[in-house]
Amino acid sequence: ELIDPSLKVLCIYGGGSVKKNGVYDQVRAALSKHAVVEYWGVTPNPTVETAREIVALGLREKVDFLLAVGGGSVLDCTKLVAAGIRHPEIDPWDIVMQGTATQIPFASIMTMPATGSEMNTEAVISCLKTKEKMDRFAAGYPEFSIVDPSVLTTIPTRQKANALADIVIHCTEQYLTTPDQNRVLDRFAEGIILSVMEISQDVLKPDASYETLSDYAFSATMALNNILRMGVTQDWVTHLIGHELTALHGITHGESLTMVWLGTMQVLRAQKKGKLLQMAERIFGITEGTEDERIDAGLRAMEVWFKSLGLATRLSDKGIGLETIDEIERRFNAYGTLLGEAKNVSGAVVREILLNRL
Ligand code: NZQ
Ligand code: ZN
Repeated sequence: ELIDPSLKVLCIYGGGSVKKNGVYDQVRAALSKHAVVEYWGVTPNPTVETAREIVALGLREKVDFLLAVGGGSVLDCTKLVAAGIRHPEIDPWDIVMQGTATQIPFASIMTMPATGSEMNTEAVISCLKTKEKMDRFAAGYPEFSIVDPSVLTTIPTRQKANALADIVIHCTEQYLTTPDQNRVLDRFAEGIILSVMEISQDVLKPDASYETLSDYAFSATMALNNILRMGVTQDWVTHLIGHELTALHGITHGESLTMVWLGTMQVLRAQKKGKLLQMAERIFGITEGTEDERIDAGLRAMEVWFKSLGLATRLSDKGIGLETIDEIERRFNAYGTLLGEAKNVSGAVVREILLNRL
């Protein structure tokens, strides 16, 4: 009902999970009156190589509308394809690097809450050839997104663990920055973090209830739909370093973040002091001790939570060492941009952050 029946729809899928949980049959039934073309095989950490293939298919078939059916990877790839079809004269990687472009309309059936991609404008795209992963592309919002908690029961436990970490770290990227900017947004971020922590062990259970999965899905969308960052400073250092770990070693997105997060907080603890103290008190109830002791206790509590999800918190947990740190520092120096809420994180600071996690 949300897609005009006169439109030719290209449905874009991942590796087949939608056939196990009934989503594929639902989509086919809902589009029974539309002309439909399908593409199967978008992988986690979607690549520009895949996007090029789908753009070619979409142009050949003269499609009008794209429907992403799957997780954040399928949707991110779809966002780039929507721009690639509108701009066949530009290579999709150039679209990624130029950062934005107009798109043909697209929408999503989101089966894996984590990224917030269903209600934001961003797409994170990898290039297999150069082993890069870039979050530069941001264009339009999906026309609509449907998130049905009853189809989340099939998500593997490890994917759910990655998702929960991703959601909390989306909050911290927008919250653990500069104090006293917006008390309402602070409470929003704290509310999402507390809710996720409260339900996380239940979400991981194979028989998680509809209500638990609803809260999980809603927290994912609310953590990265451009609300928490309205008018406040943002960090994103942990994400940008995590993307490099994924590009070089294939680490799953959520875990790439838990492997870096404590390093970012330790190295930048002086500038983040006010917010780290606020997090320690409001999230973990830590009110005793000196400021340094409270910050340390808060960081330890977050590490305990990451570990409760079964995720790594050090590079050495995954056999990653100095060679990778050298390469990541080299890459950030080559990008030449200063990162974080204070725009003071250079390649050398990225190195310090990673050395902290060896
Ligand atoms: O491919 P299929 O067979 O569908 O299986 C997927 C995939 O293997 C499976 N899955 C999805 N829904 C399922 C399910 N399995 C069973 N039941 C279901 N209901 O889950 C696996 C992982 O899916 P993926 O889409 O890769 O996960 P996620 O949604 O976490 O997306 C990760 C990607 O999004 C990027 C990440 O960097 C990564 O590339 N991000 C995108 C952001 C954005 N657009 O705003 C922000 C994030 O920070 C993040 O960087
Ligand atoms: Zn993320």
